[in-house]
Amino acid sequence: MQEPATTWLEREIREQPSCLGALIESFLQRSLGTASEGLRLERVAPHAWSRSERTGSLGEIRLLGCGTAFHAAELGAMMFEHIAGVPARAEMATSFDPRRTLLGPQDRVVALSQSGESSDTLRALRAVRELGCTTLALTSNGDSSLARGAHASLDTKAGRERAIPSTKGFTGLVLALYLLALDERRSQSGDEPQPSELAAIAEFPARVSQTLEACSEIGIDPAPFLGAQSAFFLGDAFELAIAREGALKLAETALLPSSSYPSAEIRHGPLALVCGTTPVILSACQRDRLEQHAQLACELASLDAPLLVITTHEASEAWPRACTVYCIPPAPAPLDALLAVVPLQLLALRVGRARGCDVDRPRNLSKSVRVE
Ligand code: G6P
Repeated sequence: MQEPATTWLEREIREQPSCLGALIESFLQRSLGTASEGLRLERVAPHAWSRSERTGSLGEIRLLGCGTAFHAAELGAMMFEHIAGVPARAEMATSFDPRRTLLGPQDRVVALSQSGESSDTLRALRAVRELGCTTLALTSNGDSSLARGAHASLDTKAGRERAIPSTKGFTGLVLALYLLALDERRSQSGDEPQPSELAAIAEFPARVSQTLEACSEIGIDPAPFLGAQSAFFLGDAFELAIAREGALKLAETALLPSSSYPSAEIRHGPLALVCGTTPVILSACQRDRLEQHAQLACELASLDAPLLVITTHEASEAWPRACTVYCIPPAPAPLDALLAVVPLQLLALRVGRARGCDVDRPRNLSKSVRVE
């Protein structure tokens, strides 16, 4: 039997299947028993934010957030573009400057914040409202300043987080963005979500549970991180945002400088820093890039870098013997990328503890930054 969680961070990591299940339940309806053909996605976007309620050109969707919420925004921008075909861009709320933007009344904004109280995100929300944009607050705090300040709000059902490093807040934001992107595609083109997409969503909380079990914290060896000066996180497309989130999680939780790059980009400079004490974590779930990722893994292994690969079961035999492989259950993109964040959260927790860090309250940080 699993030991009870001793930190908020661990508890919140483990709460993810039930939080994600609650979010899914609010939008996924089952009309016929338990058959996956009977699944239907209810309307996700609030009326006050939807394009159908507005006139004029399509415009773009801008997603604003800080820290972990910004990484969710990056995933959201890719989803709105790739799934719904709407131009979308993520921007850090901390550097949003209304004097240097072309945003106007034709555009929509999603302001993302786990707490709904980060001052930079609130400031950016006020600025885009003054520019005439239609705004949606995406948060796990429905009673927050952000939720009250936007035209509409959507609760991710992740609930309050107590650990400063965000975990369930992140997965809730990303899953809500995926549902919004499918809903947006339906309102743009009339294409209903495919039964296979809906089945993958319905199964997602169970996939997260499986991933938690398969990569339990106990199975993660912190040794390569104890004498390390830095770590690199690599990934492509959706998994690049996951690599960025993994790097932030390890930096704040284990106080280890960590950076992230698109996988092939490491050859353009950062490779000079890689040696036997530089752990590299490669998120490699995309089947169409398996060959390139396997080749890169061999190059890194030849430099003696401790190498961790996060991938799906089918691909596991492609990797050099020296590397540690964390297998996650297969899921269609972008859900596979979202699953890949779970081992990275556990890694940050495990390494943070092994390095003697306060994983719930990393030094110098606060849960929500309320100064501009
Ligand atoms: C702080 C926290 C981060 C968090 C960020 C945004 O910097 O340390 O973990 O991602 O705020 O918080 P929010 O509540 O707006 O998502």
